[in-house]
Amino acid sequence: MTRPASWVNADEGFSIRPAERADLLAIARIENESFAQPWPYDAFERFLGSPGFLVALEGGAVAGYIVADLTDGFGRQLGHVKDIAVHPDNRKTGVGSALLSRALAVLAARGADSVKLEVRRSNERAKRLYRQFGFEALRTVPEYYRDGEDAIVMIHKLGHCLV
Ligand SMILES: CC(C)(COP(=O)(O)OP(=O)(O)OC[C@H]1O[C@@H](n2cnc3c(N)ncnc32)[C@H](O)[C@@H]1OP(=O)(O)O)[C@@H](O)C(=O)NCCC(=O)NCCS
Repeated sequence: MTRPASWVNADEGFSIRPAERADLLAIARIENESFAQPWPYDAFERFLGSPGFLVALEGGAVAGYIVADLTDGFGRQLGHVKDIAVHPDNRKTGVGSALLSRALAVLAARGADSVKLEVRRSNERAKRLYRQFGFEALRTVPEYYRDGEDAIVMIHKLGHCLV
């Protein structure tokens, strides 16, 4: 049996699948609308083919995306959520939660022991989302962002039941 190209979340009205080259322009647009210091287009290009680079599609259009990867550190697999954003028109409908949930499942399936991310100290909405998924604040990195804002490093220890 062939694997479906997308995972349909029928109840939610959107689907999630690995990002493709044709998605990159829409992704870059959402990135520019979402962040003061957006990733450039070619940063996304480098993650094409990575299992943790996913898009959510609604009505055939990119509604949001997540970039997550896995690194080997001292024999332990550390997951890293590097970027997540949802188009302003699609926020507060569960797209961000669905992307995070799928990315965590992908990382867990590939053996991640824990997953980390950085978030702006002032980004209450994102911090709330991460806490809902079991992320906890680990430490602060002063002036991590170019405009001088601190980052909060959050970590989520994946239970073996997820693997
Ligand atoms: C952070 C972000 C990715 C969240 O995406 P999202 O799609 O809005 O997330 P969700 O819809 O899953 O959840 C957000 C809120 O909507 C609520 N929600 C989800 N589905 C809902 C629905 N059907 N009806 C009403 N509310 C709903 C959630 O409960 C949550 O509420 P809360 O903020 O009070 O906890 C999005 O706000 C974003 O792109 N922000 C700009 C980029 C950014 O800051 N990225 C994080 C960088 S670290």
